[in-house]
Amino acid sequence: MSADDLSKARSDFADRNPQSRKYFDEARKYLPGGHTRTVLTHAPFPLVFVSGEASTLKDSDGHTYIDMLGDYTAGLLGHSEHRVIDAVTAVLKTNVSVGGIHPAEARLAKLMCERFALDRVRFTNSGTEANLMAITTAMQATGRKKIMVFHGGYHGGILYFASGAAPWNAPYEFVVAPYNQAGETIKLINENAESLAALIIEPMLGSGGCVPTSAEFAQQVFAAAKKVGAVVIADEVMTSRHGPRGMFDLLGVKADITTFGKYIGGGFSFGAFGGRADLLDQFDTSPEANRERTISHAGTFNNNISSMSAGCVVLGEVFTADVAVAHTARGEEFRKSVSTVLARHKLPVSVSGFGSMMSLHALAHAPKTPLDVAKRDDKLQELVFFGLLERGVYTAARGMINLSLSLTDDQLAKVLDALDDTVKTLANYRG
Ligand SMILES: Cc1ncc(COP(=O)(O)O)c(C=O)c1O
Repeated sequence: MSADDLSKARSDFADRNPQSRKYFDEARKYLPGGHTRTVLTHAPFPLVFVSGEASTLKDSDGHTYIDMLGDYTAGLLGHSEHRVIDAVTAVLKTNVSVGGIHPAEARLAKLMCERFALDRVRFTNSGTEANLMAITTAMQATGRKKIMVFHGGYHGGILYFASGAAPWNAPYEFVVAPYNQAGETIKLINENAESLAALIIEPMLGSGGCVPTSAEFAQQVFAAAKKVGAVVIADEVMTSRHGPRGMFDLLGVKADITTFGKYIGGGFSFGAFGGRADLLDQFDTSPEANRERTISHAGTFNNNISSMSAGCVVLGEVFTADVAVAHTARGEEFRKSVSTVLARHKLPVSVSGFGSMMSLHALAHAPKTPLDVAKRDDKLQELVFFGLLERGVYTAARGMINLSLSLTDDQLAKVLDALDDTVKTLANYRG
């Protein structure tokens, strides 16, 4: 097995998917690269899907796949959650864009505050926007400018720290700290004590390779940031699905502001930021509050009816705290099974993650920091991805897997068989 095998895997993929290729040949004329979501792209071109049912996806060449990606955590419910579809269909028949207040907005706010222990919450259209607004909230409250972020972190396309701060990021004064290295991080917090407005952190690097942090790291870093008066922003856009109240709660820490997104919109665009009343009440324009100064946060679709109504069903009926706890346990069990399969073979492939989110890595041992993730064998990573696709299993090209609620035990068993077979076939891989 060699680089030639990768060329062959790519050309076999292209041969199997002529309709997807045709789509991209046309789409590239109007969309740079043929897409508007960079994360979905890979060589030679990504698949074009035409339908989904429960945990199965169908592409434009007629292949069906077990959906193990779960739309990068947004697809937690699977593709046929009728309670959400029915609720949104009903509300769309009454009014689409009222240009006013709709009862579902406060209903969803109550569900979120009760579920995630927030004093107040505000809605946005995406996780990126939620993080930008959380940063704004912290900067306005503290009168400070610097934002601590972590190497390997991702908080949106313009809050991107895979290899330090990306040159196209929003123009904040970032201080980039090393994830999972408490000593160095606390030193940086103290060096910037006077100017640090906020620290923003994921409890597990999601886009950065499903690298979880520890309770010790989270506790030490949260305490150090709060001590210097910086606002701690927990980015739980992906990870609020873990446990009854999100992943940081499981680690025993509480942020000042938490941001949300993805699955809560039930497939519709969604974002939210919420937390301490004294911080969020900077947005309180009500006459009763009688504030001298408020932050304006308009946004045409912040309270859009589809997302608000879907969110009420997601948190109120489908993904209750009990379901979340059970799903986290199911994910833990599945990751252990993946690990057992990989341990049967000598190929340097491992799995990392927590709960229902995980990632395959072309590395002998699961990564503990983003620096480990950067050492992956990219060629082998891609061969594993194509091997799984060929066997009817859809994951992220980068290896990410997110379990949806609609996956059956039988489907999970098939995925383990497909992984076993893929890794076995690559036994002679030499790089
Ligand atoms: C941790 C995290 N924060 C923020 C975002 C941005 O969310 P959105 O894509 O909805 O803007 C993402 C998206 O993947 C994410 O993983």
